Amino acid sequence: NTYVIIMAGGVGSRFWPFSRTNFPKQFHDVLGTGRTLLQQTVDRFEGVCPVENVYIVTSQEYKELVKEQLPALTDDQILLEPHRRNTAPCIAYACYKIAARDPAANVVVAPADHIILKEETFKDTIRIALGATRNEDILVTLGIQPTRPDTGYGYIQYIPDKLTIKRVKSFTEKPHLDLAIKFLESGDFVWNAGIFVWNINAFKKAIGSFQPDIAEIFESGIPHYYQDSEEAFIGRAYQHCGSISIDNGIMEKAENVHVVLSSFGWSDLGTWKSLYEVSEKDENQNVTDGNLLLYNTTNSIIKTPKDKLVVINGLDGFIVAEYDGVLLICRKEDEQKVKEFVNEAKELD
Ligand code: GDD
Ligand code: MG
Repeated sequence: NTYVIIMAGGVGSRFWPFSRTNFPKQFHDVLGTGRTLLQQTVDRFEGVCPVENVYIVTSQEYKELVKEQLPALTDDQILLEPHRRNTAPCIAYACYKIAARDPAANVVVAPADHIILKEETFKDTIRIALGATRNEDILVTLGIQPTRPDTGYGYIQYIPDKLTIKRVKSFTEKPHLDLAIKFLESGDFVWNAGIFVWNINAFKKAIGSFQPDIAEIFESGIPHYYQDSEEAFIGRAYQHCGSISIDNGIMEKAENVHVVLSSFGWSDLGTWKSLYEVSEKDENQNVTDGNLLLYNTTNSIIKTPKDKLVVINGLDGFIVAEYDGVLLICRKEDEQKVKEFVNEAKELD
């Protein structure tokens, strides 16, 4: 059977001030479609597996947000983490929980904060990956054709044969710029979409080999995996658990990684520029939302509250974003600095 794990515990700090610790971007209707990024992520798996096989992993503090946004899910499907430990423990928690219910499960792991424009192509791609993990203990990732030497992604080097599921030679998480440029030039690299497919057995082998400490913590939990003691177990588990991403902790190290080259209109809404790129622009190449009077303003993204008139003259290539007591004005090209600003603005993170 197929299960979906949605990782929804990040804070999305490069998307500040819109994305906040107490209200991260996955809980916002970023694109103005009427559905939040989390809701869209769940919607996207309709037809891939029944809704009772969808699990959300998030921070305890977002419990009410998730319940409110996904009323079709039971409490047992919302896995709550007492601390942020990055994605390896998050995925381990969910995989071990699913394993206790169905040891032969195939799982799809997906972030809660991406947009995917071509839903049918996406589902076809997922089905191709699932077709492979049903018979083989491999780790499958989805690869996206890179368009720029972005240092915010993982880079996957694959063996360019004719197979639909290609073997992976190397996986490099968030390389430095010069390396990213080399990867892009070489041509046989794709971006890691951050979406993974595998069966429980393959996952247990991988985590046992490369993160044995995390594996041991969760292995010991299985015999007493009952709803009434789960919270206590997770409380203890997360106290001892190291913090590491699935990319650094497993994908860079494993030798049975495979990739399906994909093109389903993918975008990681990680930063303001990525939102700018996927949004509809006006005749001056601006993306706007708010009560605005713009003069001589071009190539900018402006998102301000509707109850405030904002008048701007002479900006080119800027981010202007106001949300919940914070106004950010920053050059689009400096957007990676937003993370630093958040650190300085501690009480308004
Ligand atoms: N539950 C939980 N707990 N979720 C988390 C945690 C955590 O501690 N940390 C992050 N997440 C969630 C985020 O909300 C997001 O949905 C997903 O896990 C991925 O985390 P990011 O922090 O957004 O990762 P990234 O964007 O820097 O990098 C990953 O995604 C890229 C593609 O978007 C990597 O997989 C890269 O290799 C990949 O290219
Ligand atoms: Mg991300």
